[in-house]
Amino acid sequence: MDLSKYPNVTLLDHPLLKHKISILRDKTTGTNEFRRVVKEIAIMEGYEALRDLPTELLEIETPIEKTKQPFVSGKTLCFVPILRAGLGMVDGLTSLVPSAKVGHIGLYRDEVTHQPHEYYCKLPYDLDQREVYVVDPMLATGGSAIDALTLLQKHGAKHLHFICIIAAPEGVEAFVKAYPDVPLTIGALDRELNENAYICPGLGDAGDRIFGTVK
Ligand code: PRP
Ligand code: URA
Repeated sequence: MDLSKYPNVTLLDHPLLKHKISILRDKTTGTNEFRRVVKEIAIMEGYEALRDLPTELLEIETPIEKTKQPFVSGKTLCFVPILRAGLGMVDGLTSLVPSAKVGHIGLYRDEVTHQPHEYYCKLPYDLDQREVYVVDPMLATGGSAIDALTLLQKHGAKHLHFICIIAAPEGVEAFVKAYPDVPLTIGALDRELNENAYICPGLGDAGDRIFGTVK
């Protein structure tokens, strides 16, 4: 897939990130390690996705002298995990920005139609004033991501971003068609979806692997 025609899509490229995503892909990786590595990946991806945060110069005093130095300023943030699997990325992101608010959107994919269904939504009251980073490890058909962004817009969100760990080409195409202006940060771009709309090679069901709900 040629991502160069999508200026708002960023496919990250770092050996440590690739290594950690390979650990997630391995079916012998247990729940404990899986959860820890998802958190580490969220920190790495968050670091990149937040690189446009504005800074302002504030005066401080080092042990040597007074100086003006950059501090993150202005815009306040909100992270919104798509339940369940997105929850695994929240701790990593809030370790980067402890003052960020966290909203929650609950969506599950119907096993037959693969369409997302909403079952939960709780968002900060001042969403319209925040940079909103929606997070979910998997972008498969793109249906869940698109529904989440649509829901957030209905609740007033104006500044949206999306961070995933693994994306399928089909999901990226659907995403940029629906939301060409929303920055999309991807850890790995996989080959395709299978007949059950699972990402290949992927990592399986991210929610089940994070929470250990399937043997
Ligand atoms: C997974 C994943 C995404 C969605 C991606 O969640 O975490 O939310 O599927 O698929 P899509 O791009 O085709 O919509 P799932 O619905 O399995 O729920 P879970 O997190 O509770 O397991
Ligand atoms: N959701 C997942 O958790 N994994 C996939 O491969 C596709 C959707």
